[in-house]
Amino acid sequence: MPMQSLIDLFLHELGDIYDAEQRIVQILPQLAGESADPQTQNVYRQHLQETQQQIQNIEQCFQVLGVQPQRQNCAAVAGLKQEHDAFMQERPTPAILTMYDLGAAAEIEHYGIASYQGLIEQCALLGQQDCAQLLQKNLQQEQTMLRNVTSLAHQLGQQSASQQASLGLQGGADTLSQTSAGGV
Ligand SMILES: [Fe+2]
Repeated sequence: MPMQSLIDLFLHELGDIYDAEQRIVQILPQLAGESADPQTQNVYRQHLQETQQQIQNIEQCFQVLGVQPQRQNCAAVAGLKQEHDAFMQERPTPAILTMYDLGAAAEIEHYGIASYQGLIEQCALLGQQDCAQLLQKNLQQEQTMLRNVTSLAHQLGQQSASQQASLGLQGGADTLSQTSAGGV
């Protein structure tokens, strides 16, 4: 039977973020373990606890609707994890891996923010204010997490850039302009 109702669409999307958050619970401890920066490790660990709470909020949302929680494979977050694993093959230094992971975490948060915003919009159409409130909590935590990882990436990026400059590793602007002059 074709899917034709807004509630079925909503449940599908809720199942997607339900799957995504459970994948993220697996990913966050790995990111914390890989991070060379203690403040970054703390941010991942704190968000792990928040994510566990977010999963409960989603389960409560299913409950409000009288539906058994069901995961829908979230290929997007699974794909970001695959990209991470492929990047590890490049043998990044701890500092570079820390920067990469902050970027990946920001990508994951953007996905979560877009998902929750869409779901909250659908709650309004369906008159599901209780669900909307639960998902709003998740959205706010995702927005805070995005701000945290963005500012850490900025901070650590500045530090890395000045360290590399002092080690003469940068080559940066010169190398880049030579490369572009070479027509690449
Ligand atoms: Fe998150």
